[in-house]
Amino acid sequence: MNSVIEMSSNLKVVIFSVCVVLLYTAYVELHVPRIEPSPPPVINMPGSNTTEDLREDLMTLGKRIYHGRGACALCHDGSGGRAPSLKDIFNVAALRINDSAYRGSAKDARAYIRESMLRPSVYVVEGFALKGEPSPMKSVTLPPAELTEREVRAVVDYIEGVSLRGSAR
Ligand code: HEC
Repeated sequence: MNSVIEMSSNLKVVIFSVCVVLLYTAYVELHVPRIEPSPPPVINMPGSNTTEDLREDLMTLGKRIYHGRGACALCHDGSGGRAPSLKDIFNVAALRINDSAYRGSAKDARAYIRESMLRPSVYVVEGFALKGEPSPMKSVTLPPAELTEREVRAVVDYIEGVSLRGSAR
């Protein structure tokens, strides 16, 4: 008889404990906000992707587009025949922006190059189209180039890089 009482009170303890655990779990589940695990921190080891490396990657992409899908080099071949040479575009851009005929919104060379790529007819370099005519250059967002925002930035990076090194065409 005694052992039966003992067993049933043991059982009660077990049942009680299980209930407590279940209730607590339910409480935590309902009331304690879940914390999303954060991504592991980026550690820059020598040779891993630093900002410099990423910039270099962008320039490589820019170079590929400039000589490939963008066909920039086809017209901007350095001769100045079909299109102005971009060799000195970082200095030339200031002249364009300060030209009284300039109607664009660029305030610096990067913005001017970007604008020239996206909306070539905003400012047409003298001698490359009849007066009042649109630029012979198509916006790079149109086919066949259809550059994305990232690709446009990559090309500007590339032009800036080679122009500052003095080797752009
Ligand atoms: C079909 C020929 C052609 C192609 C392809 C072309 N351009 Fe041009 N681009 C021109 C001509 C012509 C001009 C001068 C007329 C003008 O100002 O829009 C010009 C002007 C520019 C200018 C302004 C130059 C200045 O001296 O003010 C920039 C910058 C430029 N292009 C960049 C590019 C880039 C980058 C690409 C490739 C993504 C490209 N162009 C592709 C013909 C071309």
